[in-house]
Amino acid sequence: MMIPDEIVEQVRDAADLVAVIGEAVPLKKMGADWRGACPFHGGTHRNFAVVPKKGMYYCYVCHEAGDVFKWYMMRAGLDYPTAVREVARRVGIVIPERAVREGPDPREPLFAAVSAAQDWFARQLREAAEADAARRYLVEREIPLERAAELGLGFAPRGKALLEELTKLGIPEERLVEAGLAKRWEDGTLGARFRDRLLFPIHDGRGRVVGFGGRLLGPGEAKYLNSPESPIYHKGTMLYNLHAARPAIRQEGAVLVVEGYFDVLRLVLAGIEHVVAPLGTALTTEQAALIKRLAPTAVLLYDSDKAGLRATFRAGDELLQHGVRVRVATLPEGEDPDSLVRAGGAEALEALLKDAIDVLERKIQLLDRRGWFEGVEHRRDALDKLLPTLRAASDPITRDLYVGTVAVRVGISREVLEGELRARPTLPVATPGRAISSPPPPRRDDTPRRRSVPGARMEGLLLRAICADPSWLERARGTIAMDQFEVPAYRAIYAALLAADRSGPLASVSEQLAPEYRDAWARLLESSEKVAGYRWDAEFAAAAQALDERALEREIAALRDPAERARRYQELSAQAQARRWYKKPAEQSRRPTRARDDRADSPQED
Ligand code: CTP
Ligand code: MN
Repeated sequence: MMIPDEIVEQVRDAADLVAVIGEAVPLKKMGADWRGACPFHGGTHRNFAVVPKKGMYYCYVCHEAGDVFKWYMMRAGLDYPTAVREVARRVGIVIPERAVREGPDPREPLFAAVSAAQDWFARQLREAAEADAARRYLVEREIPLERAAELGLGFAPRGKALLEELTKLGIPEERLVEAGLAKRWEDGTLGARFRDRLLFPIHDGRGRVVGFGGRLLGPGEAKYLNSPESPIYHKGTMLYNLHAARPAIRQEGAVLVVEGYFDVLRLVLAGIEHVVAPLGTALTTEQAALIKRLAPTAVLLYDSDKAGLRATFRAGDELLQHGVRVRVATLPEGEDPDSLVRAGGAEALEALLKDAIDVLERKIQLLDRRGWFEGVEHRRDALDKLLPTLRAASDPITRDLYVGTVAVRVGISREVLEGELRARPTLPVATPGRAISSPPPPRRDDTPRRRSVPGARMEGLLLRAICADPSWLERARGTIAMDQFEVPAYRAIYAALLAADRSGPLASVSEQLAPEYRDAWARLLESSEKVAGYRWDAEFAAAAQALDERALEREIAALRDPAERARRYQELSAQAQARRWYKKPAEQSRRPTRARDDRADSPQED
């Protein structure tokens, strides 16, 4: 029987773990935690901790750990659904019968395999001689081993010991592969996916381990190797640490979003617990929706470099679209949350969080510092930079406040600005693709940007790339469908281009077009000429990819059944991966140093 996650979470949140465990184990309050003798290994000292803030218990000696459901399962021998029902009954939550799907979850064996692996990895980190370097690495980074153990960190040694161990437990090889723990070599033999890496366990919303993020113990490539997508692990729909952060998020009414595993770890160690991170990609729509369900506000705490800012505003737009209020905390140049807290403690971070400002204000602040509000034509460009954020704001009050602020700042009337916002499409200005961090006068940014502008603009960009270099048309043909253009004028133009004479496609477009679209065509042509020498290949790649992703997201969003959605998501992202054709080889070697979305998910050190 499957009980929906939302209900399970509701029940978990409502349960008073201290009271439940306190019935069986005398507990004494120590700081924020409660301590007692561990009932699992029959301890006599207070090594057993109940952490109400996290809804978890943990024994420092035998390392037994879990939440209230696990407690019932271990103590009363209940299976998971029965444990959930038992707790629900205690807290007075009625689980509607209709909500319960019949039959066991077919993914159960995968959860079990990954969970067994995590136990084993954690044991290696605590005990194995081979994990010496890993333990030293943690100590060097000022992560106490005791805390690392408590958080379930692990170590994957070289070799196949894990696979042998799990096979002995009766887990078939194919399941190890499906769970992302092993891979099959060409010659048919099995190899461990994670080797010589420090592992961060990744949990789903119910607190089940579903995958790992594995860091090299030092410099090198690839710094992180993550679990592949699997029936239980979807990097785009989960957030790192969410399971543990949930109570704190509710309490704070805010989610702190950082970039990576170590940032989360450092903050948690410093007692800041409402913190999550995306899993190696930019924040996705699904993740934004997840955040919206938990808290009205998100605070973004990303690096202050170019890539960090870009990621900040992209995440900001995603969150605004879901009606989340977005604030941005600004780190000193060169610091990340990990280094900041390590040097200055929680206070340093608290100070910075207090100074967090609204994401639109932050954008204005940056533009202002770089002189974007000086002179008429800069202001026009500044407005173009601000429009995506205005458009993204789905909450009517936020939007209204934003419109007022921007109108004043740019020096135009509210009516004109509102008119601009209503207009679809916004015809792109002559120099697209500039990152917000580039100062005026316009400078080319050579990293292909993805989805940081609304789809209409991407459609325009793609067409302008084709105008600038009609050879792109052949690359677009067959891959970008006509109905991927949603702006009527753009769709008509694309249709005309596809139908045109291949030797000189631009010449005949105008006559094929309905008169009302000719103006738009003329403007496209004109603006693509104006910026001759512009890096259209990069723009083409970014625009093509954005259209691809938009189609993908739409299709998935339209699916009702979550299982179907997950399946389709996997299928489509594999296809999208395969379609990286539009990156010219030259481009790949010029990759931005922190191309977040190109991170390999397959073992690279092999
Ligand atoms: N990441 C990834 N693959 C990489 C690099 C990074 O998946 N090759 C993801 C990880 O989730 C990582 C996050 O992006 O945690 C942020 O990257 P980075 O700032 O480089 O890593 P940190 O976690 O800060 O690690 P460290 O402090 O050890 O450099
Ligand atoms: Mn770091």
